[in-house]
Amino acid sequence: MKSLGFFFSLAASLASASAIAIEHDVIPTGASISLPRSEALLPRSSSSTFSRNSAHHKQKDNWGNAVEKDRKKITIRASKNDRDDISDDFLWAIKKANHGGLVHLQKGKKYVIGKKLDLSFLKDVYVKIDGELKFSNDIEYWQANNFYYSFQKSITFWVWGGKDIKIYGSGVINGNGQAWWDGFSGAEILDPNNKYYRPILFLTDNATNVEVNGLHLKDSPCWTNFFVRSNNIVFDDVYISAVSTNASTLPKNTDGFDSLNVDGLTVLNTRVNVGDDCFSPKPNTTNILVRNLWCNGTHGVSMGSIGQYPGVQDYISNAHLENITLLNGENGARLKAWAGPDVGYGFIDNITYKNIHVENTDHPIVLDQCYFNIDAAACAAYPSRVNITNVRFLNVHGTSSGKAGRVVADLTCSPGATCNGIHLEDIDITSPKGGPSQVVCDNIEGDIGVECIPGSEADD
Ligand SMILES: *[C@@H]1O[C@H](CO)[C@@H](O)[C@H](O)[C@H]1NC(C)=O
Ligand SMILES: *[C@@H]1O[C@H](CO)[C@@H](O)[C@H](O)[C@H]1NC(C)=O
Ligand SMILES: *[C@@H]1O[C@H](CO)[C@@H](O)[C@H](O)[C@H]1NC(C)=O
Ligand SMILES: *[C@@H]1O[C@H](CO)[C@@H](O)[C@H](O)[C@H]1NC(C)=O
Ligand SMILES: *[C@@H]1O[C@H](CO)[C@@H](O)[C@H](O)[C@H]1NC(C)=O
Ligand SMILES: *[C@@H]1O[C@H](CO)[C@@H](O)[C@H](O)[C@H]1NC(C)=O
Ligand SMILES: *[C@@H]1O[C@H](CO)[C@@H](O)[C@H](O)[C@H]1NC(C)=O
Repeated sequence: MKSLGFFFSLAASLASASAIAIEHDVIPTGASISLPRSEALLPRSSSSTFSRNSAHHKQKDNWGNAVEKDRKKITIRASKNDRDDISDDFLWAIKKANHGGLVHLQKGKKYVIGKKLDLSFLKDVYVKIDGELKFSNDIEYWQANNFYYSFQKSITFWVWGGKDIKIYGSGVINGNGQAWWDGFSGAEILDPNNKYYRPILFLTDNATNVEVNGLHLKDSPCWTNFFVRSNNIVFDDVYISAVSTNASTLPKNTDGFDSLNVDGLTVLNTRVNVGDDCFSPKPNTTNILVRNLWCNGTHGVSMGSIGQYPGVQDYISNAHLENITLLNGENGARLKAWAGPDVGYGFIDNITYKNIHVENTDHPIVLDQCYFNIDAAACAAYPSRVNITNVRFLNVHGTSSGKAGRVVADLTCSPGATCNGIHLEDIDITSPKGGPSQVVCDNIEGDIGVECIPGSEADD
């Protein structure tokens, strides 16, 4: 304990030494830097003595770093209007707050980002958003200036990378998506000829320990969140919405959560109101925990799609999803893998869906290995090579929409892959079509735990 105390006091005196240097820096108009009370209240010469005495009492966050009240706080000027770009000020603030500080975007103020931002250098930083951080909708600028990922031709406004990044508050990150959805109207993101790329609202790349808490992520032009080669991402108490005010354009592809090469993805106490997948980890995502998730009008909570790219092996494993509510959507609990002449292979293993409530949902339980947009003949000729094993659906209840007749679960496995260890238990889903509900199972090895019929004998 004693040596630990010494370490903290050394760290604290180094921090106050750098605070002195800051006073000589040029501070952008309207910005401010304030030191934590423990450093600001005392004469500098005695600060190291003070720190040694107080070190034992200092709280630490989940990652062993300083808590909010012990951090240097940086504020910047707000935008005067939607064309007043403060991205240079924001970048300055993030750099100043890096290594133990905090950037605060204040309540009731708007901060417009009109330039792409490389935030890949972070190490122990807090960003507290109580106001609104809003992206400009200069489509021409963003389509020429962005960060590009070849996976599903994704682009983003900014990239967050590094270690120990906490983004939280009562505010909003607004993707200003309406103009993007209007412009995209009629196009299809997975169409190989599509060139109208739209930015992802929040993207991490090469990040470890990212926590997002309390925020509203609003109107993303495309996917809301995408995590790439990152570890230990935690979302808690977040609201995600993408709602179009134009009756003729939908907020397409505004997925709540996507991931690629990620270990450790946790989503808790979150509500999602978007026009596509609610939660859908993509290739090579492991150790997933989702609890108390609410999804409205979405394409469901999916594992995948995976197996898209020729010659590439993908996997998703070790996922636990519990207490999920899915309203008015296309799908409930879903697994999806690609088939076709030019796709990849892989596996989905050890997935538990537990306590799932569906209402007015077209396909409450789905195992689809004929993704994407491939007709039955081509899917049969080039079946998916993604194995699906050890998947449990436990206590799934509620109502379907009746769009699939009386079918409430459709588990159609690929003849080109292995499907085993698929288990259903306590399934109580009724269809407005009346009569006993139907569960379809094809090409599954072993007993699935409930009565099921081949697709050829099902309603639709
Ligand atoms: C990932 O970040 C670490 C520092 O956190 C850095 O050393 C490494 O070069 C980065 N890797 C890539 C591929 O950018
Ligand atoms: C709605 O979107 C369509 C398709 O892009 C566009 O033509 C129309 O102008 C939009 N309506 C409004 C009110 O913006
Ligand atoms: C389940 O999630 C809902 C939010 O969708 C929440 O209100 C409820 O408290 C959760 N139930 C449990 C047992 O945690
Ligand atoms: C759910 O989404 C529908 C549109 O899909 C919307 O009309 C409704 O208000 C939403 N419900 C809630 C509780 O947000
Ligand atoms: C998934 O991981 C495998 C090897 O572990 C790698 O070969 C493959 O490229 C990864 N998939 C993607 C889409 O990055
Ligand atoms: C299955 O995944 C859960 C996490 O959801 C994990 O705790 C468990 O160890 C995994 N089982 C196996 C056999 O890997
Ligand atoms: C799929 O299962 C088959 C048969 O069990 C096995 O030979 C093959 O290696 C598996 N593929 C993957 C990607 O795990």
